[in-house]
Amino acid sequence: MRIAIINGPNLNLLGKREPEVYGHTSFEDYLIKLKKDFPQVSFSYFQSNIEGELIDAIQKTATTAEALILNAAAYTHTSVGIADAVKVLDIPVVEVHISNVWKRESYRHTSYLSPHVVGVIAGFGLESYRLAVAFLKK
Ligand code: DQA
Repeated sequence: MRIAIINGPNLNLLGKREPEVYGHTSFEDYLIKLKKDFPQVSFSYFQSNIEGELIDAIQKTATTAEALILNAAAYTHTSVGIADAVKVLDIPVVEVHISNVWKRESYRHTSYLSPHVVGVIAGFGLESYRLAVAFLKK
């Protein structure tokens, strides 16, 4: 199975950014573990801080992946463009967040994406991604 993982702005700083919220591990290191734990899954990974690049990457998954795990980070709460891109995708999309967004500032309680995804996994640290893979690979 081919699963695409797309991460949005500032997630390139994982491991260094607010470690009390996001932990001490970079996504690259976490992905190595994930690949080892799910050898039957073929992962692609893309991160960008730029909204349009994320939209291009989401559109591409329609032909390159069978499922998408998307952490749009701050754009989750602001981007109609990313929500529209997710809405037209005909592969399953799981929205993930490292932190429990509902425990945080109220502006993080709104997601433009949630109405268009299969489900949302939030608050389990980087393990949110593993839970999404476990669901999708069924
Ligand atoms: C995040 C939560 C967002 O509110 C925040 O802007 C992020 C990361 C998370 O994974 O917890 O950058 O998506």
